Amino acid sequence: MHTLTYTPEQGHDVLLPLAQALGSAQKVVVFTGAGVSAESGIATFRNGANALWSRNDAQRMATPEAFHANPARVWGWYEYRRAVIARAQPNPAHLAIAALTRHFPELRVVTQNVDDLHERAGSNDVIHLHGRLDQARCDKCARAFTHLSGIPALPEEEVPIQPPQCACGGYVRPGVVWFGESLPEDDWDAATHLAGHCDALISVGTSAMVFPAAQLPRLAKSNNATVIQVNPAPTEMDLHCDFNLRGHAGDILPALLAALERNQSAS
Ligand code: OAD
Repeated sequence: MHTLTYTPEQGHDVLLPLAQALGSAQKVVVFTGAGVSAESGIATFRNGANALWSRNDAQRMATPEAFHANPARVWGWYEYRRAVIARAQPNPAHLAIAALTRHFPELRVVTQNVDDLHERAGSNDVIHLHGRLDQARCDKCARAFTHLSGIPALPEEEVPIQPPQCACGGYVRPGVVWFGESLPEDDWDAATHLAGHCDALISVGTSAMVFPAAQLPRLAKSNNATVIQVNPAPTEMDLHCDFNLRGHAGDILPALLAALERNQSAS
């Protein structure tokens, strides 16, 4: 395992060995978590006073039981998050990940994030293992409610908002996966197939603590893929990685892209 603490002052040349190691890869998976969107101003879940699960109790906000007990509290909190995301912009990490397809045409992005910043940066066919905030549905009959696409006013984080009601009488719920719920089956099958058959997996901005999603880098490693981690902090994935890049995704992904381009023009 190679660990490198990266700062922009070092320049992208320090990533040339990694670019060379990736040079022959064809099937590449980029597996992302909340950290990839941190530099867009979207809070992560763990570590730090501003983290969502430091300020909020997950059992009170992110379970089916919590929604049934108090739909307005839960809906209001997700509307607040949807408003934050709607105002955010993709950052250099999202843009570099989208541009990596120039080198790896078979690259796929598998994200745990419920925002759409990968798509807005230009990535196609993104797999959202934990759903999407802009894809609400009826809690009772599962009808899709895409009319939520307008940008909501930015409410206070803790203000309850009554969810819309479906014609069937059910409440509309956020289109995310809550604790205790299964991942979307087709997405999970596609993600495990990709991770199990890739040449390289780049894990970006995830604590890799929430399963089953966190199984994906481990699955890639057990199938002999090169596993690279981008994170400013140590994680439980450290021991399983071939390359551990400590630093911010918005610095490292553009530098990796530049190193790949340099490597390509030299060959
Ligand atoms: P976490 O909040 O657990 O982890 C975010 C990671 O991003 C941490 O390891 C940070 O060190 C790292 N990080 C912070 N800033 C970064 C930056 N600028 N560049 C790179 N990395 C940075 O978020 P996830 O791992 O995504 O699930 O959490 C997984 C799941 O737990 C979420 O999808 C969510 C949550 O409960 C559900 O809600 C179902």
